[in-house]
Amino acid sequence: MFELKWLWQNLEGNRTRYVIALCLSVVGSSLTIVNPYLSQRIVDTFIAGDQAVQNLATGRGLLVALCLGMIGFSLLRTGLAYFTTMQYEISSQNMMYNIRIYLYNKIQGQDREYYDRNRTGDLMTKMTGDLDMVRHSMAWIFKTIIESLTIFLAAVIYFLTIDVKLTLWMLILSPPIFIVAFIFAKRVRPMYIDLRERLSQLNTTTQENISGNRVVKAFAREEFEIAKFTEKNVNYATANKKAALVWLDYFPYLESFAQGFNVVLMLAGGYFVMEGRITFGEFTAFSSLIWAVSNPMRNIGIIINDIQRFFASLAKIVDIYYARPSIANDHNPVEPRRYEGRIEFDHVRFKYDSATVLDDVSFTIEPGETIAIMGATGSGKTSLINLIPRFYDVSGGRVLVDGRDVRELELDELRSNIGMATQDVLLFSDTIDGNIAYGDPDLPEEDAKAYAALAAAHDFIVKMPEGYDTVVGERGVGLSGGQKQRIALARALAVQRPILILDDTTSAVDLETEEHIQRSLRELEYPCTKIIIAQRVSTTAQADRILILEGGRLIEEGTHAELLAKRGYYYDVFMLQNEGIGRQVTESGQE
Ligand SMILES: Nc1ncnc2c1ncn2[C@@H]1O[C@H](COP(=O)(O)OP(=O)(O)O)[C@@H](O)[C@H]1O
Ligand SMILES: [Mg+2]
Repeated sequence: MFELKWLWQNLEGNRTRYVIALCLSVVGSSLTIVNPYLSQRIVDTFIAGDQAVQNLATGRGLLVALCLGMIGFSLLRTGLAYFTTMQYEISSQNMMYNIRIYLYNKIQGQDREYYDRNRTGDLMTKMTGDLDMVRHSMAWIFKTIIESLTIFLAAVIYFLTIDVKLTLWMLILSPPIFIVAFIFAKRVRPMYIDLRERLSQLNTTTQENISGNRVVKAFAREEFEIAKFTEKNVNYATANKKAALVWLDYFPYLESFAQGFNVVLMLAGGYFVMEGRITFGEFTAFSSLIWAVSNPMRNIGIIINDIQRFFASLAKIVDIYYARPSIANDHNPVEPRRYEGRIEFDHVRFKYDSATVLDDVSFTIEPGETIAIMGATGSGKTSLINLIPRFYDVSGGRVLVDGRDVRELELDELRSNIGMATQDVLLFSDTIDGNIAYGDPDLPEEDAKAYAALAAAHDFIVKMPEGYDTVVGERGVGLSGGQKQRIALARALAVQRPILILDDTTSAVDLETEEHIQRSLRELEYPCTKIIIAQRVSTTAQADRILILEGGRLIEEGTHAELLAKRGYYYDVFMLQNEGIGRQVTESGQE
């Protein structure tokens, strides 16, 4: 089986330990027949045999030895079980530790499309619940299977050495038990796959709900969210109950069959004792070992249950393991070069799934130029800039950086040449200083302050209770939208990359602050090509050139003056934004 092979590969480094554990399980379980054997000897020699009375008088020593042997073997067996269980635990924990690291790296290495497709809650379920189920199986379920099988076989072999006919009578119940168990397994398998899916839905709902709690509160939709959660919760609970109830359907049969062993032993065994075919001690041995045959049969349902869950979880993990991102780091250990920052779009087409988002977009940006991109929401601005660091690949045409197709460039190198402030600002729960230095952990605190000042963030940061050491909450809780944007800008400036991309980064700051930021950007001390997405003419007016996007097409391109003269989209936006000012001017002129 492919998944098991995968598991075995990942056991590397712990295989010996795991195999030793399996072997010890076999040895330990085989020892279970020792005590029944000893009691058989005691019964036949000292209790029920023909010479029992004489033996009791002469062979006290043997009796004591046999009794001590029984206690000694029990101690040995439990000691061995202790040691064996430890080996299972250690090897399975080590294996999971390795898999967890690998999976985490794998998830980190996925491209943006993967994150578009996969729900966070689902990934979290895989990384926690599923991994744990697999570990539990390695440590407990496989152990139980091996031990049940060994005990069963040892008991049957022991029985055969005593009496073949009685053993066959005993085993007569096995086939029906196997059939019942098989039917049960077939019925319960899809249920566990379903159960696994519902758990993931429950986790996704919970996760979205917690991270989106501000929106929930803003719209006073707590009731709705609770109802949504309750629905998922009920679904999960129902699926769980359903799976448990199926087990209950079969439980009476399995249990009755297991009890049947006792009945067969009483009837057939009793008859054989009376016939003198077996001794009373041998009957005792059968009787004290009958659990070794009936218990595995009884447990078969539970084991099947767990194995189904194990495979459902394992399949999910293997999924992550073999997911191949189409845009991936090669991790060649090349020293990243510093680019000049020349960017060219050559008849670029782009679509996410079906609808075309960018259509035949061509333009060139020379190193050091400042380009502004403007366009209605949904016109494709963010999608366009996402193509430069290769968050997505073009559907047609080419994106070139320094004259080379980005698909030919080393991904790490390409991205380490770009400083970016994304549209939806995400700060980590860390200090403000830590957030600004995120791209360059060695950044001296002085520099962090300098870049914060350039981003017009220094003034409000020093007013905070602990200044740069203030810890901002998850996703920057405790800061205003404009404050977050300015910290994100400082973070993008601090890495001093030759290409700087700002996606609507000043949309939430006031005009005065924006003015300050504009000046900073013009006076940056390192050479840098800047692409600035903005809605305000006050921002775009300063750029060397302005690109206007509409419905994924480049409809206007030129300087502020050129585009105004053109009297197209840009002119309209300009007039709209300056209407107020224009009227004020006219009104004051009339006075
Ligand atoms: N991850 C995505 N998957 C599918 N469609 C997307 C995705 N991101 C954006 N889009 C679509 O692409 C179009 C352009 O979006 P976007 O580039 O974000 O526009 P803008 O930044 O100009 O507002 C929109 O129609 C949007 O619905
Ligand atoms: Mg956008």
